Amino acid sequence: MIKTVTTVPYTDQKMGTAGLRRKSKVVLQPNYVENFMQSIFNVIGDLKGKTFVVGGDGRFYNDKAIQKIIKMAAANGVSKLIIGQNGFMSTPAGSNVILKNKADGGFILSASHNPGGENGDFGIKYSNASGGQIPSSISDKIYQETLNIKEYKICDIPDIDLSELGTQDICGMQIEIIDPVKDYVEMMQNIFDFPAIRRLFEKGFTMRFDAMNAVTGPYAKKIFEEILGAPTGSVVNYKPLPDFGGLHPDPNLVYAKELVNFMFSKKAADFGAANDGDGDRNMILGKSFFVTPSDSLAIITDNFKLIPAYKGGIYGVAKSAATSTAVERVAKEQGIGYYEVPTGWKYFVNLMDSKRITFCGEESFGTGSSHIREKDGIWAVLFWLNIIAATGKSVEQITHEHWQKYGRSYYMRFDFEGVETSVADKMMEDLEARLPELCGKEIEGYTVTSAGAFVYEDPVDHSSTKNGLIVRFNDGSRIVYRLSGTGSSGATIRVYLERYSQTDLNNDPLLMLTEIFKIAMAISEIPERTGKHQADVVT
Ligand code: G1P
Ligand code: ZN
Repeated sequence: MIKTVTTVPYTDQKMGTAGLRRKSKVVLQPNYVENFMQSIFNVIGDLKGKTFVVGGDGRFYNDKAIQKIIKMAAANGVSKLIIGQNGFMSTPAGSNVILKNKADGGFILSASHNPGGENGDFGIKYSNASGGQIPSSISDKIYQETLNIKEYKICDIPDIDLSELGTQDICGMQIEIIDPVKDYVEMMQNIFDFPAIRRLFEKGFTMRFDAMNAVTGPYAKKIFEEILGAPTGSVVNYKPLPDFGGLHPDPNLVYAKELVNFMFSKKAADFGAANDGDGDRNMILGKSFFVTPSDSLAIITDNFKLIPAYKGGIYGVAKSAATSTAVERVAKEQGIGYYEVPTGWKYFVNLMDSKRITFCGEESFGTGSSHIREKDGIWAVLFWLNIIAATGKSVEQITHEHWQKYGRSYYMRFDFEGVETSVADKMMEDLEARLPELCGKEIEGYTVTSAGAFVYEDPVDHSSTKNGLIVRFNDGSRIVYRLSGTGSSGATIRVYLERYSQTDLNNDPLLMLTEIFKIAMAISEIPERTGKHQADVVT
């Protein structure tokens, strides 16, 4: 039944910040998925005795791609696949299933927060036995393999029914179809104080969770409504749809508009939250109140003692360099380790494995802990609910008290999308060359204290990664420039702005950052070079 099929390489199968992400139309090309998967199998080598976890966020092509992966895994000698029922599994649940079963790795079929459907994006994320996505050293090898691929192996059998739980044999390989929600729920019950959160809902506390027609719907229904007793209807857009119902499943102020409008209306619930396509991102809202992900990480870290699983103590905390410095002040106060890494969750994995950190987060609506090796949307929502249940305070009150204690980092991100790749590359290159001259200079009343590339040396494997450019000012303000590594066409320039104040706590972030924005545009020449005077997306 095993067939060897000849193929020709594609030259664009290089993984980005998180796996391979392309327009669905690109992935639909003949042998596109097959080439990529065979290259991974070739790089792993001997697959006998190996177990992998497979699932996806249910987007367009999830069902077709998963069949190919199953048949190819069998043909390549994989011993066992653990598959989410109907091919569904969120990214954090997948990481948990890998760790719980001591599997050798896993594949999550998702382009994360990117839109889905025939005109949207598709993607494949590959994790190893750590439960986290592979390091660049391995993805580079896989990319080389994709450039030389000549044939792939596949089992010539009809499609497999993934709707029934249980075990079966496919082409000599065992497949186990599991309920993707069950293990995840159990893990959450072991971390948080579910009885306390239940009591909160019993007292009439209200929430709205927007699953954005993506994978977390079934997880959220089960956890928030069924187990914790939030009123039916608290979880909205809970049915995963192949095109996410036309939504851009990215939980931020721009794309989660429906939830934001509701939470800023008179009818608002006490608490609002949303997750992205594959369930690893989160947004936290109070009544007419938005918590930036950078602040969320700082608040979570400052409140670890309220959570059963962490009250014994935490190791340390890490953030991506682009994320605001709010959590740095908490780490100092708590006397715990603090790390700054490049953008991408994979850079946290070594720090967690070596027990240097417990919590980590990114400004891009990612928060998580060492319970798994991916960011975890529902985990963050439960963390907030647990803080609220333990303190009896509102989201706004918790955040305001945090600012009073630590000061406030005003923070925003400006994305310039659809820029020609060569223009974006040249802008970054020229800016990097100019940065040293800026040191010590005063611009619009701000003095530059340092300016240059962000270079990270991993304390565990000593690999070195360069990611983005940082300009720091004498008052603690910062500008970070980066090119996105998750887009499926053209380039996106990200500009991250931060300004710290110990006294001015209730101002408008846009107002507070106006001057820094001007400086950021002037020194990078983004308007002149891209023709864009305003960002396409501001979060
Ligand atoms: C973006 C985010 C980054 C996140 C990644 C995957 O990557 O900025 O923080 O880890 O998505 O969710 P970027 O497009 O900036 O490379
Ligand atoms: Zn995601």
